[in-house]
Amino acid sequence: MSLLVLFPFLFSLCVLTVRCNPISGLTSLPPSAAKVCTLHNSFEPNFVADGDYVIGGIFPLHYNQEMPDLNSTYRALPVKCNGFDPRAFRWAQTMRLAVEEINLRADLLPNYTLGYKIFDSCAYPLTGMRAALAVLNGLRESDSPMCQGASPLLAVIGESGSAQSIVVSRILQPFRIPMISYFSSCACFTDRKQYPTFFRVIPNDDYQVKAIAQLLVRFNWTWVGLVRGDHEYGRFAVQGLLRELQGTKVCVAYQEMIPLLYNRKRALQIMEVMRLSSAKVVVVFSAEGEMTPFLRDYMTQNITGIQWVASEAWVTASVFTASEFYPYLGGTIGFGIRKGHISRLSLYLQTINPQMYPNNMLVKELWEALYGCDPFALPGSLLPPCSGQESLLEQHSAYMNTSNPRVAYNVYKAVYAVAHSLHNLLLCQLGTGPFQNKSCAQRNNIHPWQLQYYLQEVEFNIAEEKVNFDLKGDSIPYYDILNWQRGKGGNIEFVNVGLFDGTKPAGEELVIQEDRIMWPCFTPQVPVSICSASCLPGSRKAVRRGEPVCCFDCVPCDSGKISNQTNSIECTLCPEDFWSNNDRTVCIPKKVEFLGYDSLGIALTVISMMGACITIAVFAVFFYHRNTVIVRINNSELSFFILFALTLCFLCSLVFIGKPTFWSCMLRHTAFSITFSLCISCILGKTLVVLAAFTATRPGDNIMKWLGPKQQRTIIFVSTLIQVIICAAWLIDDPPSPSPNTQYERSKIILECSVGSSIAFWCVLGYIGLQASLCFVLAFLARRLPGNFNEAKFITFSMLIFCAVWLAFIPAYVSSPGNYADAVESFAILASSFGLLFCLFAPKCYIILLKPKKNTKQHLMVK
Ligand code: TRP
Repeated sequence: MSLLVLFPFLFSLCVLTVRCNPISGLTSLPPSAAKVCTLHNSFEPNFVADGDYVIGGIFPLHYNQEMPDLNSTYRALPVKCNGFDPRAFRWAQTMRLAVEEINLRADLLPNYTLGYKIFDSCAYPLTGMRAALAVLNGLRESDSPMCQGASPLLAVIGESGSAQSIVVSRILQPFRIPMISYFSSCACFTDRKQYPTFFRVIPNDDYQVKAIAQLLVRFNWTWVGLVRGDHEYGRFAVQGLLRELQGTKVCVAYQEMIPLLYNRKRALQIMEVMRLSSAKVVVVFSAEGEMTPFLRDYMTQNITGIQWVASEAWVTASVFTASEFYPYLGGTIGFGIRKGHISRLSLYLQTINPQMYPNNMLVKELWEALYGCDPFALPGSLLPPCSGQESLLEQHSAYMNTSNPRVAYNVYKAVYAVAHSLHNLLLCQLGTGPFQNKSCAQRNNIHPWQLQYYLQEVEFNIAEEKVNFDLKGDSIPYYDILNWQRGKGGNIEFVNVGLFDGTKPAGEELVIQEDRIMWPCFTPQVPVSICSASCLPGSRKAVRRGEPVCCFDCVPCDSGKISNQTNSIECTLCPEDFWSNNDRTVCIPKKVEFLGYDSLGIALTVISMMGACITIAVFAVFFYHRNTVIVRINNSELSFFILFALTLCFLCSLVFIGKPTFWSCMLRHTAFSITFSLCISCILGKTLVVLAAFTATRPGDNIMKWLGPKQQRTIIFVSTLIQVIICAAWLIDDPPSPSPNTQYERSKIILECSVGSSIAFWCVLGYIGLQASLCFVLAFLARRLPGNFNEAKFITFSMLIFCAVWLAFIPAYVSSPGNYADAVESFAILASSFGLLFCLFAPKCYIILLKPKKNTKQHLMVK
């Protein structure tokens, strides 16, 4: 359907003439209003130039608008826009410059001229819509498209903010008029079904959020705050960033939204959240419009240490370059869109002054904004008057920042894209065209959709940079990483510290020169923004319930487990024979423990050596006094045997000290049991002798004959032999052997001698017990026998001690862990040996050495 028919329905702005309105016969318009075509409301373009082909431009020349009056008792005044934006004004001028440049070129659109109509969107969707409608409409009744031929509007350059672009795109869409945005980066535009005529010369935000996510990961900023403006741009960017952060170690501490209509109370609440949070990095998706009042309030709040991460929408906003912002915003890092060079821009901008455009309100406002004066001051105006010929200098950076234009460069590219497409369209050779039946577009009646075809296909270079659009109308993703540093005048300068090239393979996209970055508050290191400090090796992370994964506690590893990396999630168990060190950072071989020559071992050694020495000393005394009565009376041979056995007993406790080896284990119990058996056998022999000697009532009773020295030796031999046999059986069948024991203490290996066959072990002990008990019973019977020196009572006593020691030994042995069991056993050996030694030999030694007078037959035999 032809555009011409659609226009009248679309524009309620235009009251149609009866002549034009097909259904006019049915309407009952007052006759006076009926016959003329008048604009319902006219919107003057801010800049306009006629040409063979006209393109529209929509720029946010003001960053604010007054809310419309809802009173409908009178005709509403045109929406009032406030806050002149010199930056957007520069973009608009860039469009004019580009068109003028193209018109002068002989190689691009020769013989044709481009025209333009530039409107203000006031950075607001509703006003953007007005601009879109206005750009479609003719300027006067006489050029009202429905009243006069075809719409000459072929394409629209615009809009800036995505929220406005969405509205503009929706309005242009039914007419298939292509639009090329120079600043709308919202990822939402990739939906070709919803925005079929949308093109842009700025990368899609999907790339920007990817870049921001990589930046956060790169600097280990794992706890970040997100602040956004209340518009599609902010909403989609935050959504995208959250999606991008999934699966990384970065968590979002808070998400805040600056309201569309700036509200100080709400802003202060957001700042309170920022102040209280430990997230020092704040990513902001917003534009100058909201950011300016927000940051002004922020500066009054005395919040320090914030590292701002700026999105492309405000990272190069010249409003913030003023020196007052430096202490608060210095160090900000952000992603700036690609810059370029427009050689004539600076000169061109300088040509604009109030005298050249006396009727243009915007130029007046520019002067007001830059010089604070009114070039057309009437008496009573608020600002001081000025000539209007003041020179524009670089210091008027809000307007004159032309060295490295970014958005302006996009505008420039967009205009060239239209021109090149149009050029290609006009080059179309009849019969080879892309349209139905290989037709071309008609030069004098080009339809915008025909231009769209060529836009989609266009590819050209501007200063070595390739410009084209992909199938979704997007352009090449490339960002500069900018860092806000202090300039010479104390103002803020944007310093390039790296780049993000989305066309590079994954992982190589982000390049940062870290040494060039200046951090906020002059700190030399990268700011830290984490929820919980990382867990050192030796501990692991424990996630806090209901909190993001970046917030965790560090729990030290249990003993026996280690973690050797920072931030480990789990502690790993040490292998079998290893144990954790004190710091729980490495597994070290377990300590092997045994009864060694430590204090306990040394004490036992000393005691046993002492015992052996004392026994030898007693032996010497007895040997020296072997002819005295007391030695002879008590069967000197047996006494020497006992002393010999006791010496061995003392010495065999030494086998228990030191590292258990195959031999020492075998030796331990066997040596001990055999020497003790020998010892007790001797004592038993002695007891028997005593008993026999005194029970032999009549002299010549031959009981003594049966217990002569020979028999005594036999008894001793046999009863010791039994023990030897038991031991031999033990050693052959299941000998004790060294065995590492990890049961008592998990952190140590206790090297002990396993007994092997425990039956044999208890048999051996039982046999000694049996011998001792027998000895005890016999000695007990003989204790009251006459004689001044009755050995039986000493034997009874010694056996009592012996049995007591060994009875006490059993529970102590069973319950002592590992190496202490050895100590207990060796101690029992020593104690019982000392018991025997003292009970049996102390009284005699006393008489021999101290009371030699008593050492006579008479004395001992008194009765
Ligand atoms: N890239 C932003 C966008 O797509 C840039 C922008 C321009 C903007 N003007 C704005 C963002 C106003 C928010 C508000 O929208």
